[in-house]
Parts: sequence; C-alpha cells; structure tokens
Amino acid sequence: ARRALIVVAAGSGERLGHGRPKACVDLGGRPILAHVMERLHGLAQGLPTQDPAHQDPSHQDGAVRGLDAVVLVLPSDQVSYDQLATVGEQFSAATGVSVHHTRGGGSRSSSVRAGIRELLRAAAADWDPARTTVLIQDAARAMTPEAVYARVFAAVEAGAAAVVPALPVTDTIKRVHAEPSATPGAERVAETVPRSSLRAVQTPQGFTLELLQQAFDFIGDLPDAQAETLTDEAMIAEAMGVEVTMVPGSQSALKITTAEDLAAAQATLAQRET
Ligand code: CTP
Ligand code: MG
Repeated sequence: ARRALIVVAAGSGERLGHGRPKACVDLGGRPILAHVMERLHGLAQGLPTQDPAHQDPSHQDGAVRGLDAVVLVLPSDQVSYDQLATVGEQFSAATGVSVHHTRGGGSRSSSVRAGIRELLRAAAADWDPARTTVLIQDAARAMTPEAVYARVFAAVEAGAAAVVPALPVTDTIKRVHAEPSATPGAERVAETVPRSSLRAVQTPQGFTLELLQQAFDFIGDLPDAQAETLTDEAMIAEAMGVEVTMVPGSQSALKITTAEDLAAAQATLAQRET
C-alpha cells in the first residue's frame, strides 16, 4: 500500500485580501503552508498518532506506514512559487519524504488535477492505483491536526474508496427562498433544516488513486456547466454513485478564508505558545 498527500495551495486569497496568494500569507512568523507541513512530521515518519477518536489500524499489524510522496500545488507567480517550494524542500529534508512541486490552475479542481498529474508523473507511475491512497488537503486549513490525516488514511486503507472528515453542525440552518423579500437586502425563510442530519465537511479528503482516475474520466464526459457544479472530489464520487464515508474532523481544522479567520488562527497559535 502507498500513501500520498496533495496539498492545494495555488489559490489567490481574494477574500483574505492580502494581495498575495493565501498560502504565502504570514501566520505567526511563517507562511500558512508551513503550518500545514509542520503538523505532518510524525505521520511522514510513520509514528503512531495519539488519536482518541480512532485507533489507527496501520499500526495494529506492527507495520509502520509513513508518507510515500507529497505534491504541493503552488501559485504560478515566481516569487510565491519559490517561497512555498522552500517550505516543501525543508519538509523533505526534515522527514526524508519525497516532495514534488507543480503549478496550479484557475480553479481548485484544476489545481487538484494538476496535483494528480504531477503525482503520477513524479512518483506513482508504477504504483498500483487500487492500493494507493491519495489525500487532498486545502492549504487554507492550516491547523488540521495530524490525527485527522491518520483517520482518513486509515478509513481508505480499511476499504472505503472515498472519505471525508466532517463535524456536526451547531448553528441552526434555514433554507431561504430564491426570490428576495420585499424588505431591501433581506431574504425570506423557506424552512428550518433538521440539524441532526447535517455535517460540515473539511479536508483532507481521501480516495484511492483508482477512484480519482475514474472521477476525472467521469468529469471529462460531462457538459462543462455540470462539471463545474462538482466543486470537490467527494461530490464527484457521489455523482458517480460511489459511497462516501465520513470520519470525525476537528474544530482546529477551520478554513482560513477571511481576515477574521486569520486573526482567530493567530490567537490559537499564540495561546499554544504560552
Ligand atoms: N486553491 C487552489 N487553486 C485555485 C483555487 C484554490 O489550489 N485556483 C486552493 C487554495 O489554495 C486553498 C483551497 O484550494 O488551499 C481552498 O480554496 P479557498 O479557500 O477558496 O482559497 P482561495 O481560492 O485562495 O481564496 P479566495 O476564494 O478567497 O480567493
Ligand atoms: Mg477560492
């Protein structure tokens, strides 16, 4: 069995508003991408993770499974690319894991596809796709704990073809009518959605390489407009009729999207360091 991780870090960070790719933005003295990699040292070296939510079966048979390859999908501009490639090289030097870099595309899904192409080109050409697990992580979820990666790897290795980490929804969620309210800027409630059946999905999402290859063939056969509605790989799996398995996510794995999110991540870091 093989384990690969693709980190998509090519987004422009429009909503964060720093005028540079989000993965390069400073969080406590390091670029956001460096925080993702920092949490992966134990996993990379095949050390057992302390995970209260899941016994990692990859250690039950005494085997140690680290990471076989990492692909970082980076922004195209040379300054950002070089800065983030350095993060990858440092991770590789510290862990011995082979790290490959490539440039992303104009959408998250095209960046994921670029990552898979690079994985196949640089590392996985002779790997058995059915026995290769690929995790796809958003660089924007900088604080995802190692235990979540371990849980997703373990679930795929236990036989699930598609796995997503998720948390129960704590807010009350209401569906609104498409047509606006008579009050300017307001909306009309259609119904309250029962919260007990809702989950908020995070990354890393895990798949067999075999399923990812099938997913891109499937997408390629759809009309563009329909393909664009399938914004992540788990949605493609659902559209293909493949069962998607959910494992527990983490409160720490929140996505950094806005300036407020970055401030919250900064506060969490500062708390840990005191
Ligand atoms: N991503 C990517 N390539 C893109 C768009 C997004 O690799 N063309 C990645 C981002 O780097 C991020 C993840 O997908 O790690 C989730 O995207 P999002 O949070 O939307 O990040 P951005 O697209 O950078 O932010 P924004 O939408 O505000 O511009
Ligand atoms: Mg985006």
